[in-house]
Amino acid sequence: MTAPEALARLHAVSFTTPRPWTAAEIAGLLDSPFSFLLAEPDGFLLGRVIAGEAEMLTLAVDPAARRQGLGARLVAGFIGESRARGAETAFLEVARSNTAARALYARAGFAETGCRPRYYGPQEDALLLTRPLSA
Ligand SMILES: CC(C)(COP(=O)(O)OP(=O)(O)OC[C@H]1O[C@@H](n2cnc3c(N)ncnc32)[C@H](O)[C@@H]1OP(=O)(O)O)[C@@H](O)C(=O)NCCC(=O)NCCS
Repeated sequence: MTAPEALARLHAVSFTTPRPWTAAEIAGLLDSPFSFLLAEPDGFLLGRVIAGEAEMLTLAVDPAARRQGLGARLVAGFIGESRARGAETAFLEVARSNTAARALYARAGFAETGCRPRYYGPQEDALLLTRPLSA
């Protein structure tokens, strides 16, 4: 299993807003039986399924490894693992200005279903994206 320290390093090169997660925070999330980790050497995704609902907690791909399909592969893995855990819907939050992630999620079948104004700070809304997982 990939060490939380390695995941925190990947998170730090991928995010400034919201602030990067520490190794301890990542380890804490992974401590839950509801959470799961999909990890490859250049990227990872953390998700969880609670009461039939899957949440993508974070997704990060090393800047040097982007646009090679890893993000899409991790999202597909998230959908598969969420279904395997009995989830019927999936959701995530993404910054309105994050055009790369929004394009990736749109291609993976997520649609905008809400907005949390200024969720990431005075200039940055969070969009709520959801996707049904039933066949
Ligand atoms: C978003 C992120 C995970 C995408 O990872 P990636 O491995 O580069 O994604 P992929 O190569 O699988 O891209 C799949 C599709 O997403 C879209 N996409 C990805 N990056 C894009 C970009 N910079 N601009 C426009 N579309 C983009 C494209 O449709 C792409 O398909 P294509 O390359 O055939 O055109 C990566 O940019 C990242 O880690 N960003 C910083 C962290 C982050 O924003 N995480 C998500 C937070 S909610």
